[in-house]
Amino acid sequence: MPKKINQKIIKILTEVYTAEIGAIGIYMEQHAKCDNAGYKKLAERLKEDAVNEMKHAEALAERIVFLGAAIKCEKHLTPKPEETEIIDIVKMNLQIEIKAIERLNAGIKTCFNEGDNGSRLVLENILKDEEKHLDEYETILENIEKYGDQYIVTHLM
Ligand SMILES: [Fe+2]
Ligand SMILES: [Fe+2]
Repeated sequence: MPKKINQKIIKILTEVYTAEIGAIGIYMEQHAKCDNAGYKKLAERLKEDAVNEMKHAEALAERIVFLGAAIKCEKHLTPKPEETEIIDIVKMNLQIEIKAIERLNAGIKTCFNEGDNGSRLVLENILKDEEKHLDEYETILENIEKYGDQYIVTHLM
């Protein structure tokens, strides 16, 4: 007998999945831009984050299919090639991570209320990573604001 699909859960998992796909594209585009401009350390960090978001997308895709639904990627954020200032890139990513954390916390609450603890665990694991990402970008932004170009040259190039 086919499993009954909880559409509330699928909606959440799809929203998080969609946001991950957007983040992958943005971080990888920033990686390439920073790498090309000689910001090697930041470029490496961005690539690692993009790969990390990809693993989140993988876990979500697997969960959606496991629950018997189909994967749909809705409209998501796309890269901004005109954004080349390091500080703007960091600020943008900070916002992406803040929104991700809000989305995940709300989703975890719904999963709990719906009694789907398997999905809740998937979201909780992702949440811990996004909290780390946010912390990293906060630190980078604080240091740029405090030390300016000196920090960029010594820590991001
Ligand atoms: Fe993610
Ligand atoms: Fe993230």
